[in-house]
Amino acid sequence: MDYAIEAENLIKIYSKSKKALDGVNLKIPKGRIFCLIGRNGAGKTTFLRIVGTQLEPTSGRAVVLGHDVVREPDEIRPRISVVPQEAKVWNFLTPWDYVYYYARLRGMSAREARETCIEALKKLDLYADRNRLCLQLSGGMKQRVLVSMAIVSGAELLLLDEPSIGLDPVSRRQLWSYIRRIAKAGHTIVLTTHYMDEAEALADDIAIIHEGRILVNGDIDQILGENNSSMILEVNGDDVSWTSEYGCEEVIGGKAKIRLGEDERIILEIMAKAREKRCRVTFRRPTLEDVFIRLVGGVDLEPS
Ligand SMILES: Nc1ncnc2c1ncn2[C@@H]1O[C@H](COP(=O)(O)OP(=O)(O)O)[C@@H](O)[C@H]1O
Ligand SMILES: [Mg+2]
Repeated sequence: MDYAIEAENLIKIYSKSKKALDGVNLKIPKGRIFCLIGRNGAGKTTFLRIVGTQLEPTSGRAVVLGHDVVREPDEIRPRISVVPQEAKVWNFLTPWDYVYYYARLRGMSAREARETCIEALKKLDLYADRNRLCLQLSGGMKQRVLVSMAIVSGAELLLLDEPSIGLDPVSRRQLWSYIRRIAKAGHTIVLTTHYMDEAEALADDIAIIHEGRILVNGDIDQILGENNSSMILEVNGDDVSWTSEYGCEEVIGGKAKIRLGEDERIILEIMAKAREKRCRVTFRRPTLEDVFIRLVGGVDLEPS
């Protein structure tokens, strides 16, 4: 397989602090959408900044599009585009200004910039609004301005750091569909998120990062399959403390979550107990969030 990014034992220590990256090994395939998932402070931005050649690792190696990030950053930069975390557009410019001048800065002639700019703005449904001030645009549109800047460069690899943060549910979904559209056009997309639904909706491949270490990495369907061969039982009621006997993983708001193991006969036992304790039981398929919580650690939010 051809890889856009290969990281080997990547370590990053900011001055006098703990390891932000603690031996990251990752291979990110070309031509697919890759989601790096983790809690706040897990190391997502640090990883993205290193592969984006904005930050040098303390040790280890990262190869992006066949070039070493430390030795050959100039080979990498023209071929990638980055939308940093919490990037904002300036209110008194228009989408056209942003995308056109960015294309010019990337070295295009005026004519080429004009043509690619029209194409990029159309791809992200911004063409009709190209001459409005960003001040007048919605959050979702502003985010799309940033993404259209990233694609106008024609970069093979796009690095998007939490691109949907702060967007409403509809705008997020729109952004996902644009991201999918861009990926179909042949760009490799690496994005970070802590939203599991985002990763499920978008990713071909994922990695879960926690305290600077990769806990799991691979094709999302395979990961869901391997980690969740079985069903999840949710038990609702006034007293769900008895579920701890059955390997309850998490209790939130009177709802206990049990992941069924190999032996599914235990369902009958749980159902009988639930009836006795006047609890309601529902079944569902496991999600990426279940995998994440299990690997990263769940919470018990019940008052004791
Ligand atoms: N410039 C910096 N100086 C010192 N520590 C930093 C710096 N940037 C990030 N960190 C620390 O590194 C860890 C990983 O941060 P980051 O990569 O931003 O995580 P994420 O993007 O997953 O939220 C955190 O503990 C954070 O506090
Ligand atoms: Mg971050």
